[in-house]
Amino acid sequence: MLVKRFHTPGEREAAHYAHLHAHGAPIPDLYLAETDATGREILFLEFLEAIVDLDPMAGFLSNAVNFGKFLTAAARLNAIRPSQAYASILRPRNLGGTWEEARGSLTALVQLAAAGSLGDAVRRTVSEMAPGSLVALSHRLEARLAEMPVGLVHNDHDSANTGLRRATGELLIFDLEFVGIGPRFTDVAGALGETDAEQPRCLPRSALAAQYLAAYALAGGDAPSVDTLLGETRDLLMAGTLRMLGWSIGRALDGVVDWTEDRDDGRREARAGLLADLQRLVDYAG
Ligand SMILES: Nc1ncnc2c1ncn2[C@@H]1O[C@H](COP(=O)(O)OP(=O)(O)OP(=O)(O)O)[C@@H](O)[C@H]1O
Ligand SMILES: [Mg+2]
Repeated sequence: MLVKRFHTPGEREAAHYAHLHAHGAPIPDLYLAETDATGREILFLEFLEAIVDLDPMAGFLSNAVNFGKFLTAAARLNAIRPSQAYASILRPRNLGGTWEEARGSLTALVQLAAAGSLGDAVRRTVSEMAPGSLVALSHRLEARLAEMPVGLVHNDHDSANTGLRRATGELLIFDLEFVGIGPRFTDVAGALGETDAEQPRCLPRSALAAQYLAAYALAGGDAPSVDTLLGETRDLLMAGTLRMLGWSIGRALDGVVDWTEDRDDGRREARAGLLADLQRLVDYAG
């Protein structure tokens, strides 16, 4: 089994396991939940086979079998209509910063870029941006997200938070701490939000979206059209990029990333990532 203990006291995942299990969600079995003397949760979970090792997303996105399972598992969780008891403990979760913070980051970005603190490429890109276009985009996206239908979402649906049931090969989702109510297709924004040109995958994104929606409908979800799904995931991806901007700028300044100890390497990669994010946002803002 897998034993997980939290760093800090408080209720975290055990309640989600109980409710989601009752709803038939694709999650591992929870054998036992305890708290230690300081109130930290300890979970004893079914051990799953890892699907990802060194380069999770690259390998994963090109594997039609695992990618299909990954989307289907999300669909089954997203289609759940929480019982009253479960709904009473679910909270909206705003991952990343607020919209105000995102707009503050845009102001900081313009100043830091002009001063050359983020490198030449970012300085050039930012100096060519129409002033205010990303601020206007942030207001449009804020309004669109506020209108999106909501549903049950995992909020960290990443291949690193999934594994295969040893007996059946079924893909299951764990790391349930942030499960909550949010824009209904939040969990597949990362997987489906980028266009086929931006992110080549094993299949065109419209085919993958159709696969997700079929599983969503089968699990009792009220499935919209493929175009609606793709539009929402693209807006959610852009919104996420904007709301992570403060973090991205921070890493482009300090180079502290978890894939290398070398600050210069970290800074170079973080700046390249920031530049790609900005170009995408500028294109989207039109
Ligand atoms: N049931 C499980 N079976 C096998 N491996 C697991 C299981 N649960 C967790 N793991 C492994 O432990 C890692 C961390 O688990 P989890 O994601 O639940 O914790 P976390 O505290 O949120 O960590 P992180 O911040 O890395 O996401 C997973 O990425 C996975 O490699
Ligand atoms: Mg995790």
